[in-house]
Amino acid sequence: MGLEDGASGHGPAPGEVLVLHGFTRVLAQEDVRPRLMACLSPEEEARRQAFAFPRDRDMFLLAHAVVRLALGRAMGVGPLDLAFTRDAYGKPFLAGPIQAGPGFSLSHSGEAVAIAIAGASLVGVDVEAHAREVPLEAMAMVMADAEVADLAASGGLARRKAFAYWTLREAFAKAVGLGLSLPRNDVSFRLAGEGSAGEGAPAVAHLAGQFGTTGDWHLHQCDLGPDHILAVAARAPGPVAWRLMPIESVLPCAGGVRAPVRPVP
Ligand SMILES: CC(C)(COP(=O)(O)OP(=O)(O)OC[C@H]1O[C@@H](n2cnc3c(N)ncnc32)[C@H](O)[C@@H]1OP(=O)(O)O)[C@@H](O)C(=O)NCCC(=O)NCCS
Repeated sequence: MGLEDGASGHGPAPGEVLVLHGFTRVLAQEDVRPRLMACLSPEEEARRQAFAFPRDRDMFLLAHAVVRLALGRAMGVGPLDLAFTRDAYGKPFLAGPIQAGPGFSLSHSGEAVAIAIAGASLVGVDVEAHAREVPLEAMAMVMADAEVADLAASGGLARRKAFAYWTLREAFAKAVGLGLSLPRNDVSFRLAGEGSAGEGAPAVAHLAGQFGTTGDWHLHQCDLGPDHILAVAARAPGPVAWRLMPIESVLPCAGGVRAPVRPVP
């Protein structure tokens, strides 16, 4: 696929984090599915086909094609000019001839997909369907003691709160690259609206020294529709500008013309 289909050379500026989010129903729009299929490498297509359920194949297609389109656009190359590898923890990186690019992270859950691309920082993103039946006891086993204590005191609010903590933790774990290997008490979070004045963004409340200081970390959290919650974590020396956009803004359309780029209000 050529530059006109995916690349413009405009990525997030230093200090900016672009978060693309959407749902697999976009694949039903005319021409979107074949155009995204054309963005996958043979290895990605093999992984996609290995999923047993069409829903999972769609989730994989949307996430990986949009990573290629968005990174290609940010770097001024076509989506298939990019190659990826993973480290021992599973964190994906750019590989091959074009390795110097923005930090990125992807997440898929149910029908929702989110991709974060950071101008000059480590970044991680997580999206979860908070209605799904995960026992709170199981979630608590991977949370920090302080978070578990907060959940225990929260009664009926506990499920929504648990997913807020969970997504922040997963976003952080992806940013540092450890995934599930992150020791649970190495980081804890304060949720949005729980600062001393009862307001403000979520924040890192406690952090083990090897991850920097709490002030190095910037968090964003919001709902995606009624059923999903999103969290993004970025390590950056100064303030971070979050730019949330629908996935449609990077999709190739018929005639190679993309939908206008619209920030989400
Ligand atoms: C793999 C993990 C990082 C996230 O998994 P997940 O939430 O099930 O799935 P998501 O869709 O959000 O993220 C998966 C993507 O993260 C990326 N990823 C995997 N390992 C990663 C790592 N170590 N660092 C950064 N990114 C990673 C990959 O791109 C992967 O997608 P891909 O395999 O299609 O390329 C890991 O934390 C995990 O398996 N968690 C399971 C749930 C859990 O117990 N969470 C505890 C939080 S309270």
